[in-house]
Parts: sequence; structure tokens; C-alpha cells
Amino acid sequence: MQPLPIMDGIEFVGSVDWDRRLFDSLIPLPDGTSYNAYLVKGRDKVALLDTVDPIFWDQLREKLRDVPRIDYVVVHHVEQDHSGSLPLVLEKYPAATVLTSAKARGMLVDHLHVAEERIRVMADGETIDLGGKTLRFLAMPWVHWPETIVTYLPEDRVLFSCDLFGSHLATTDMYVTDEGLVYEAAQRYYAEIMMPFRTVIKGHLEKLAKLDIAVIAPSHGPLYDRPAFIMDAYRDWVMAPPHNTVVLPFVSMHGSTEIMVRHLTDALQRQEVRVKPFNLAVTDIGKLAIALVDAATLILGTPTVHLGPHPAAYYAAKLAVALKPKLLYAGLIGSYGWNSRATEQVVELCQGLKMEILEPVICRGLPLAEDLAALDRLASVIAGKHRVRQLTD
Ligand code: FEO
Repeated sequence: MQPLPIMDGIEFVGSVDWDRRLFDSLIPLPDGTSYNAYLVKGRDKVALLDTVDPIFWDQLREKLRDVPRIDYVVVHHVEQDHSGSLPLVLEKYPAATVLTSAKARGMLVDHLHVAEERIRVMADGETIDLGGKTLRFLAMPWVHWPETIVTYLPEDRVLFSCDLFGSHLATTDMYVTDEGLVYEAAQRYYAEIMMPFRTVIKGHLEKLAKLDIAVIAPSHGPLYDRPAFIMDAYRDWVMAPPHNTVVLPFVSMHGSTEIMVRHLTDALQRQEVRVKPFNLAVTDIGKLAIALVDAATLILGTPTVHLGPHPAAYYAAKLAVALKPKLLYAGLIGSYGWNSRATEQVVELCQGLKMEILEPVICRGLPLAEDLAALDRLASVIAGKHRVRQLTD
């Protein structure tokens, strides 16, 4: 295995993980992922930017076989998919110094037992000259941990952006070749990992807009040789108003709740509101996260289990709250067997988000004509609110 050249003095030494299907024992990876690491060679010094997940240490060691000296190892982010091989790199290169943020220093000691004396803290904007290649470190906290930094290389106009702008996508393409494919992978990544921090990311986008960037080299997925593609997408996801869309995750045990979901879907469609229903018994939770990026309204469809919402529906609501999307309105529909406190429990869960809670539509057993009429009224209310705010697609 050899390093792959990117441009003069910059090589890719990361690994593609074709088979990984779950990240953090939580996030589905339908298209695998990659752990990108980069070697930057100046006239005088050599720096390794990040390492790889430790399961790929053998590959990284092989790629570094003909690299006799590494002076610096830049740790942008302490999460182990990038830092996990750091102790092995430091063992192989005993003279190498770790460059990272002040917050990351303690985390490296705690998470990986890195010797503190091998770590040098870089301030926001501080530089290291490798000889014709300058590493400028920029603080970029909360993308998605508090310690994260990125590196800008002004001579080549390359931004090493860490997790920011990344995509979980296994590919042999060094650069993006299919923007449609990468758009969905990057949006999934944003939805699941970055969206809770979109207020902070807005500031980061403004900071990065001042840089002259020719290439963005993230820590996951292909590189961007058209940076505007991903930066414009991020601006849209972070700042644009939500769309005229209802996201409708639901679960049904004996069919009554599903009848209500299908009726509401039709009623909303007739009111020219886009609906994205997700049957939680079969859905890819990542697709639900993507839909939440620009939806205006969330309606949860749930039967009642032991007085509360179905656990799958509760999980979907919990996920939606945790991801902090731009939602403006939320509501609940569903059927129960003998009694229900599902609405109260879901409303309590949603307290953390600044959403208007709509009148729920709950019925006992099979929905009657009056229940279906209530769903029609709910559709009219949603369509009216979307119209007042002039939401579009
Ligand atoms: Fe790719 Fe937050 O690690």
C-alpha cells in the first residue's frame, strides 16, 4: 500500500472502510466511510494530519513505510476514528510532536494516555512552517466536539476541515465526481452529526468564507475541488428557512394509526404540503434525520403502549429533539386501546425545542369519521401556517 499523491508535497494516507455499517454503535452507514489522513511534506519538516481508526493501523503503517521521519502529528479532533492510531504513530516516530488545541491536550491524555510532554498546544491562528508549506491552525469548536481545530495551508489553498464538510462514503475517487451522490451522503452526515451545532457552525462558515480555498480535504469521504458545492450546501442547511414539508414518522401495531397517517398524508398533499412519512418499523433512521434538515413540521404517529407512546415513536421524537432541526411546528396523531398519556409524554420531551405544539388528534380504536375530519382540520392548520410564513420547497 502506497500513499496517494494529492498535489505536490501532499499525500493521502487514510483508509477506506467499505464494510462498516454502524458508527458509534448508533449511526447507520449504508455506504461505508473513510478515515482520511494526510501527509504534508515541506522542505524542512514533515507533518501527518490525523491518523486512522485503529482497526486500520496496519494500512497506515504500511503507507508510512518509506517515511523515515515525521516531525509533527496534527490532531484536529480526539474522537478515536481519527486519533485512535496516534499512540502507535508516536511509538513509531519517537521524535514527533503532537500539535493540537488546548482542550484536546487533556482529552488525548484521558482517552489515549498520550504523554503530555509530547503535546504542543496551538492557539487559534498560530502557524507552523514546514518549509514552503505553512500550517495555520484555526479553532473550530463544536464540529462536533469542543476541542476541534482545522488546518489551512495557504500556499496550496487547501483547508483540512476535519469532520466539518465530511461524508460517510467509501469510494476510490479522491475528489467528488458525482455531486448528487455526495450531496446526500454529506447531508446525512450533517443531519446526524453537525445539525445540533448549527448555530455555532453559522459563525464558522462566516470565518471560513474569508479564506481563499481551492480544495477542502475533510476527514471522511472524498475531497472537494469545488469548495462552493459543499459550502453552499452547508449555508442552505444551516441558515435557509425550513421548507413547506411535514415529516411524519410513525409506527402502527394493528393498523389504526396507519389509517390516520395515510389519511393525513392525503389531506396534506391536497393542501399542497409535501409529506415525508417514515414507517419506523422498517425505516433507515438516517433518512429520517436527512428529512428533518429542512422540514417545517413534525407530526408523530404513534399507538399507545402502557399509556405512553410506542418505544419506536418515542425514540424518533427523542432523536428529533436531540438533532435540533429548524422545526417550527410539531404534533401527534394516533390510536390507543383503552387510555393514553402519549401526548403529555411527547410534549414534555419536546420542551427543549422552540416549536409550536399543534392540537393532537388521538382516538380510541379504529378512527371514526369525526377523527378523520379532525385530521383534515389538522392538515388545513398546517397548510395555513406554512402559507403565512411563505414556506416554499
Ligand atoms: Fe470522524 Fe467526530 O469523528
